[in-house]
Amino acid sequence: MMKDADKIKNLLNRKLLTWYRRNQRSLPWRKTSDPYRKWISEIMLQQTQVDTVIPYYHRFLKAFPTVSALARAPLQDVLKAWENLGYYSRARNIHAAAKVIVEKFGDQIPDNLEEIKTLPGIGEYSAGAILSIAYGQALPAVDGNVRRILCRLFAIRQPADDAQEQKQLQNLAASLIPVKHPGDFNQALMDLGATICKAKNPGCSHCPLANLCQARRHDLQNVLPITRKSPAIPHRQAAAAVIRNSKGMLLVVQRPTSGLLASLWKLPGGFIKADEDTEKSLRHSVKEELGISIQVGKHLASVNHTYTHFRITLQACECRLLKGTPKPLGCQNWRWASFTDLKKLPLSKIDRILLVHLNNFFEDRLHVWK
Ligand code: ADE
Repeated sequence: MMKDADKIKNLLNRKLLTWYRRNQRSLPWRKTSDPYRKWISEIMLQQTQVDTVIPYYHRFLKAFPTVSALARAPLQDVLKAWENLGYYSRARNIHAAAKVIVEKFGDQIPDNLEEIKTLPGIGEYSAGAILSIAYGQALPAVDGNVRRILCRLFAIRQPADDAQEQKQLQNLAASLIPVKHPGDFNQALMDLGATICKAKNPGCSHCPLANLCQARRHDLQNVLPITRKSPAIPHRQAAAAVIRNSKGMLLVVQRPTSGLLASLWKLPGGFIKADEDTEKSLRHSVKEELGISIQVGKHLASVNHTYTHFRITLQACECRLLKGTPKPLGCQNWRWASFTDLKKLPLSKIDRILLVHLNNFFEDRLHVWK
């Protein structure tokens, strides 16, 4: 006789796949069977909404249509194609992984867990998503959305962001994955989480799993999943130096190869320490970064941005080079850049916004730097 757990599993599978066949979102990476395209989409979709990813997905694959084209491309071009998508380590990892795929795996995205997890940027979640969707392997792909659905479906009251609970949820998902159409099953959960079983105001009245949902039965759908309160994120201050040469070109530096926003370009400067004011901080950080002495002049613009672990206010000040020739001491590289040059360099979102403010400022007040 069939056990209760198997009955629930079968019912869940049937209801979810029937719903998915009728209601799945029409997404570009679902219209291809190319594992390369599936891989790129899954990496772009980590921490990023579907609507944001779509134009990047098209542009990226136009620029790098095959894994070997990607492996051959300069990192700067890959970072430029990723500009504003955020979490830039994903772009660096994709580029490094493409090289490994070409060198070790004959241009084929590996089709097994052991090999695919050796690639940079591929953890448990991405491995499960790619292998199930591209190769039909019965593996789960458990992200925040799927954890939320499982906590509601089985009325799990342990905090879903607790490491031990995450392991349990991973095991639970693995036990539910069907052998037939595991990729559709995973994508059905993704679509359900995005469109119906949302974090706030879940649409239980039209949920295909409503009759199976323990949270709904106990009226806990707005309470679950429980999360531990995340601590408030710190607010950090940073300063950037606007230094121009006699042609109005701007001094810019390339960030180091590792760390925050690695290898992207920015204005010279850095975080302001607790015991420093903006002027002192700029003089110190520019000396450390480029070995030059500067005079700090007036404040030109400020912008705010929120990253995962901190908020930042970045202020830009007009500065004058007093002594020395720039040397790449605390950065990979430096150069003088015109506004046209700057458009071609990969920059982070906050640096790009700052430059837009500065460009307005220069155009309006100084009529230079065209
Ligand atoms: N999020 C992560 N992977 C996805 C996929 N394949 N379809 C829709 N949303 C996703």
